[in-house]
Amino acid sequence: MQKVKIFDTTLRDGEQSAGVNLNMSEKLEIARQLERLSVDIIEAGFPAASPGDLASVREIARTIKGCSVTGLARAVISDIDAAWEALKEGAEPRLHTFIATSPIHREFKLKQSKEQVIETAVSSVRYAASKFAVVQWSAEDACRTELPFLAEIIEQVIRAGAQVINIPDTVGYITPEEYGNVFKYLYEHVPSINKVELSTHCHDDLGLAVANSLAAVQHGARQVEGTINGIGERAGNTALEELAVALHIRKDYFQAETRLNLQEISRTSTLVSKLTGMEVPANKAVVGRNAFAHESGIHQDGVLKEKTTYEIISPELVGYQNNSMVLGKHSGRHAFRNRLKELGIEVQDQEINRLFSVFKETADRKKEMTDEDLVAIVLEEGLSK
Ligand code: KIV
Ligand code: ZN
Repeated sequence: MQKVKIFDTTLRDGEQSAGVNLNMSEKLEIARQLERLSVDIIEAGFPAASPGDLASVREIARTIKGCSVTGLARAVISDIDAAWEALKEGAEPRLHTFIATSPIHREFKLKQSKEQVIETAVSSVRYAASKFAVVQWSAEDACRTELPFLAEIIEQVIRAGAQVINIPDTVGYITPEEYGNVFKYLYEHVPSINKVELSTHCHDDLGLAVANSLAAVQHGARQVEGTINGIGERAGNTALEELAVALHIRKDYFQAETRLNLQEISRTSTLVSKLTGMEVPANKAVVGRNAFAHESGIHQDGVLKEKTTYEIISPELVGYQNNSMVLGKHSGRHAFRNRLKELGIEVQDQEINRLFSVFKETADRKKEMTDEDLVAIVLEEGLSK
């Protein structure tokens, strides 16, 4: 089974979510929880962005010893120096540096020719490699870059000292099949490719971030970058909890696994949501409030007989207590009777039809039936004994 490293960027790309601003103690609390979750690498921030960011990255690098800590830097000496200041006391100083490679970014943002972009990338990686134990290099907007140019610049930065090469889909544009083909192309056209680890970094603008990351794993990526709850710029990044659970549940298919302690997922998700103020949508896979809730009568009846009829992930796997039966107008007799039993109310066979029809009439007017509603029905209608 292939091991896939998890590179968590909740504290860097995740914090780039509009309206999110974490202070040092909040960042440290999240970093400690990420360590408990057993991620391999924490991207703690962008030290050159502000003195506060530098101080937070330094504190995290000093404190966290169970996994690598990294920080982001542009292909600029002052950024790399700021990152070194922040990371030098870490267990394994590791830098993440990047430059944009796509024609759109080269022309409008960098105003540099292909040759200039290669020169800037190579000199920054060479400088970084003289300081850091590990240098990761990213081709920003890789997925809208001409493949021959992407292959050429990657070969050059590997020769300059990069050990990890990241292929970001910066604007969430690519599809799984196309992304897989980018990795295939690089394996075929970059002579030094086998000397490095390939990494995937996806954004979710078209809702494809997790699917694209899985396609990358199938085509040789050995590191997946993402965030908890999928937070991040615009529509966010690859949701790491979804990715890790997909690899776990479908391990026979993917033949790959992470080191994550999956039972820490619920706690990590709740903490990140609380500290960032970004609510988790109720229907979100793995961590949404409804992810393990069953409402319709057919599903409830199936789950009460055998959970796996409608549950491919057990809530306990990711740290939740149990699934839930939400009683509403779609619910059936089986779940209704079961909930009454849990409330200590035994209903005889001859009474269940009468009580259940009152339940259905009431449920038609309400979104969800609470335990109080059920007790009220029983009290009003009365039981025969
Ligand atoms: O999305 C992106 O391209 C990034 C890079 C800085 C890796 O976040
Ligand atoms: Zn990103």
